[in-house]
Parts: sequence; structure tokens; C-alpha cells
Amino acid sequence: MATPTPLAGLQNIAPYVAGESELTGFDRVVKLASNEGAFGPSKKTLEALVFSAHDFSRYPDGDCTELRELLAHKNKLSKNNIICGAGSDELINLLCRSYAGLGDEILYSAHGFAMYPIYGRTVRATVVAAPENDITVDVNQLIRCVTDKTKLLFIANPNNPTGTYISKSEIQRLIDLLPKTVLLVLDAAYSEFVDRKDYSDGIEFVLANENVVMLKTFSKIYGMAGLRLGWMYAPDSVVDIINRMRSPFNVSYSAIAAGMAATKDDEFLRMSQEHNKKWLQWTTDNIRALGLEVPDSVCNFVLVRFPQNKKAATTAETADIFLKSKGIIVRRMGGYGLPDALRISIGTGDEMKITINALKEFMSH
Ligand SMILES: Cc1ncc(COP(=O)(O)O)c(C=O)c1O
Repeated sequence: MATPTPLAGLQNIAPYVAGESELTGFDRVVKLASNEGAFGPSKKTLEALVFSAHDFSRYPDGDCTELRELLAHKNKLSKNNIICGAGSDELINLLCRSYAGLGDEILYSAHGFAMYPIYGRTVRATVVAAPENDITVDVNQLIRCVTDKTKLLFIANPNNPTGTYISKSEIQRLIDLLPKTVLLVLDAAYSEFVDRKDYSDGIEFVLANENVVMLKTFSKIYGMAGLRLGWMYAPDSVVDIINRMRSPFNVSYSAIAAGMAATKDDEFLRMSQEHNKKWLQWTTDNIRALGLEVPDSVCNFVLVRFPQNKKAATTAETADIFLKSKGIIVRRMGGYGLPDALRISIGTGDEMKITINALKEFMSH
């Protein structure tokens, strides 16, 4: 029987595999699989969300005017260059749809965020992964992979799932070497966690260049992953195109209300940053003390690398199974080309102690 046929190639796209969120048979599950922030939303964010329930029978402001004004004021930016999206995912999708198509190339770094190649394939572009150096973005390799077909270059800085970052001066070098026809997307989803002097979230590069945009999200440090809210800072020409491409009410009424409260809550932000600083170091030190390799992370997660040898008792796979048997969910990294690794988010102090104790037990087998 004849059936409707999707566009060629779409059926070959491997769908995104989200972190698991449930395990049966446990009173308490420790979920450290999706980097959602240790504390969930702040009290003020939650209050704003509950309050928004009084008014969501109306369409939201399709331009997110107040939220953009607030973000502009807080970050000393022009509100005209901010666009909000249903998570930064939506903005990544819109950028792919707007700037690349069949016959074009979309470039990213080998262990970059999984949605870059997925959205790249949905617009039927050729997706090119540049090799990394020591699981860190390598500017020379990226430049080597640029061709006259390259339309977009995605870099998560710092990167998920490696936790590594490249410095301001490396980004400047990349921009200097990159053709002006390539749109560079600096995805700063984890920027609020970074505590390094030579780091830039990318805003300064958007201000100085016509071919650079920056993305941020409320899903991580603000604990709002389920509400779907992100934003982009971009030159006028990009804002104009994305405004034509997006749905008229792409951000919900409640996400706007919660996002405004979260943006104002500096105290929660500082508390979350301090918590992460302490427990990121504690977790890294404790895992390294077990003889496992952990690259220096500046994010709210660590990548833990296990012995590669399949015959070894302590592989990433057996560790994952063991942790699950203790009610702890972390993330397998095979989909990122890192089958020897698990990614563990930084949760509460209590959750990290439970997880380290379980890993200790696992490694002592
Ligand atoms: C680097 C990076 N960019 C973007 C996203 C998407 O975030 P959002 O929830 O805003 O769509 C994630 C989520 O894991 C991420 O790790």
C-alpha cells in the first residue's frame, strides 16, 4: 500500500537519547544524568511559576518583551539583539534551518553536544566533526575542516559532555581564521558555572562580529529544564531571520514568568555557583583517587573514563549497571564516541557522597 514518504535521509537520523529519569524499586533515586542543576528552581522562580497559572488562558507575549528587556539590562546588552526560544535546543534547530540545507556543511567539534549533528541532518546538510585534542576543542583542526560549503560552526564552550573549554584568546584566533560567511555559534549553556579568568561566554564576540551568535539556557543553573527556555544574543541580520522562522508564540507564558524571576534571583545564582565549585572539586578529587581519569571540568558535571579493555571488570558499562543497582542514574557516553566514559552531574552534597561511595564499592570489586 502506498504511504506518504518523508524526505530522503531523514529516516537514517539516530534520534536523541535523553538521560533516564526513573528506576523502579527504589525509595530514592539519585538522578545525575542530565546536568539539570543540583537544586532545581529557586523558591522565587517557583513562586512566579505558580502565580503564572492565573493567566495562562491568554497567549503569551510572542516577543518575550519584558524578559528580553530584563536580560538586556542585566547583561548590559541591546534587547533588540536578544531572541528567546523554547530551550536553546529550539534556537539550534532554527539556526540550522535558517543557514544550512542540502549540499551545505555544518561543522562541530568531535565530542560536541549531540543536537548539533542531529539538527544538522534534519536540514539534510552534511555534518562534519573536527577532531579534538585531549577531548578539547582544537581551533586548528576546526579551521582545517572548513570548506567553501561550510555554513555553520557550533562550539559548546564549555562543552558537554567533556566539561572542557577553550580560552577567550583561542576563540578570537578562531574568529580571525574563520571565513566571514560561516556563522559561528558559541553555545554557553554552562557559562554560569565557569570560574576561570580566561573564559568568555561569547557576548563580547557577538558585539564585535557580524558572524557570531551566543546561546544561553535556563535549563542548567536555573533548574528550569522542564519549562524549556533559552536565549540567543545575535547580530541584527540573524535576529531578523530567526524572527521570521520561529513560531509566533514559541515561549510559553509560564516559562517567561519563571525566567524573569530566575534572572532577578542573584542570590540563588551565587549559591548554586558556590555549591558547584565545592562539589565539582570534591567529586573530581574523589574519583581520581579511585584511579579513574577525569578531565578538568568547568561545568556542573564530570566525565569519568574507565579502563578501555572490555575484559576489565571495571568498564563504563559495568559501572553504569552497578550504579543503577544502587538507585543512581548517570549517563553512558557511547553516543558521543566515548564508550569508555560515564558523565556524572553534580547534585546535592548528599547525592555526591552516595555516588562516590557506590563508585568506591564498585572499584573495590
Ligand atoms: C551544550 C548544550 N547546549 C544546549 C543544550 C540544550 O539546552 P536546552 O534545555 O536549553 O534546550 C544542552 C542541554 O543539555 C547542552 O548541554
